[in-house]
Amino acid sequence: MKIFISGGTGFIGQAIAKALLRQGHAVRVLSRGAKKAKDLFLNQSVEIVEGNLQDPQTFAKALEGMEVVIQCAQFPGHPVENPKKGYTYWQVDALGTGNLAKAAKLAGVKHFIYLSGAGTDGKRSEPWFKAKWYAEQAVRGSGITATILRPSWVYGPGDKSLNRMIQMLRKLPLFALIGSGKNHVQPIFVDDLAEVIAACVSTTPQEDQIFEIGGPEEMTMKEMLQRTAKFLGKKRIFIPIPKILVKFGAFFLQFLPNPPLNPKAVDFITMDVHLNAESFKKTFPNIHLKTLEEGLRSY
Ligand SMILES: NC(=O)c1ccc[n+]([C@@H]2O[C@H](COP(=O)([O-])OP(=O)(O)OC[C@H]3O[C@@H](n4cnc5c(N)ncnc54)[C@H](OP(=O)(O)O)[C@@H]3O)[C@@H](O)[C@H]2O)c1
Repeated sequence: MKIFISGGTGFIGQAIAKALLRQGHAVRVLSRGAKKAKDLFLNQSVEIVEGNLQDPQTFAKALEGMEVVIQCAQFPGHPVENPKKGYTYWQVDALGTGNLAKAAKLAGVKHFIYLSGAGTDGKRSEPWFKAKWYAEQAVRGSGITATILRPSWVYGPGDKSLNRMIQMLRKLPLFALIGSGKNHVQPIFVDDLAEVIAACVSTTPQEDQIFEIGGPEEMTMKEMLQRTAKFLGKKRIFIPIPKILVKFGAFFLQFLPNPPLNPKAVDFITMDVHLNAESFKKTFPNIHLKTLEEGLRSY
C-alpha cells in the first residue's frame, strides 16, 4: 500500500516507517526539514516530502495517490510548549491534525490512523487532552475511515524520556522523583506499537476504531524506575521531591529562550494513566507486547 506518515522522522514515526517497509509498503514521510529526513532514512526507500502541518498548501499535493495516512507528528520540544514559535498542542496536535484530515479526504485517502494519547476524552481540561480530543474528532468527522490509537508511555531506542532516566540511573546514586512516584504508567516498547500500527494498516479497517494501548504491565513510576535500575544492575535511592516545589522551579525555567520545563509539563509527566486495552486485545490477540525487561533487553 501507499502510506503517508506525518511525524515519520520522530521517535515513533521512524519505528512505524521501518515496520511498514519490512512489510513491503511504499512509504512517504512528511517533514519540515527534507535534508534531515533524507539523512535519517539514508539507503532506505522512503520518499521524503517537505511540508508543515500548519500550512496545508505545503503537503496537500503529496497526499494524492496515498491510501493510508498515519499522523504521529507533535510539536517540537514536547511537552514544553513554546507559543511564540507556534509549538503548542493546539497549533500542531489539534489544528495540524485537522488540516491533514481535511486534505487527506480531498485527496481520496481511504484510511486515517491517528496517534492520540492515553486518557484522552472530551471532559478533560488539560491542553494535551483538549488538543488530542479535538484532533480525534476532526479525524473521525473527516469522512475517512479512522483508527485512533491512544498509547501509554512509549519507550525504546531514541526516546527522550526513559533513556534520559537510564543515563541518570547509570551515573548517579540518588534519583529525584517528581512527586510521590505513585502515578501509574504502562510502558509500551516502540517496536511493539509500530507492529500494532502495521497490523492496523494490513487489516480491513472497521469504522471508527479506538484502541487504548500500553505494555502488558501496569506499574507506578517509582516501580518502573526501580525495575530499570535493577535491570542495569544498580542499587539506587529514590528521593521524592514535592511536585509543588518542582512546579515552582519550572515557573522560572519557562522564561528561558528554550525552556527545558514549565509547570504544565510537570503535570504532563506526572500524569496517572489507567488503560482499557480490551478492544486492542480482542482485535489483535496474537500480538505479543514486551514486558519492560524484555523491551530493555532488546536494545
Ligand atoms: N512518545 C510517547 O511516549 C507517546 C505516548 C503517547 C502518545 N504519543 C503520541 O505519538 C505521537 C508521536 O510521538 P513521538 O514521541 O514519536 O514524537 P517526536 O519524536 O517528538 O516526533 C514528532 C515529529 O513531528 C514532526 N513535526 C513537528 N511539528 C510538525 C509540523 N508542524 N508539521 C509536520 N511535522 C511536524 C517532527 O518532524 P520534523 O522535525 O521532521 O518536521 C517530529 O519528527 C505524538 O502524537 C504523541 O502525542 C507519544
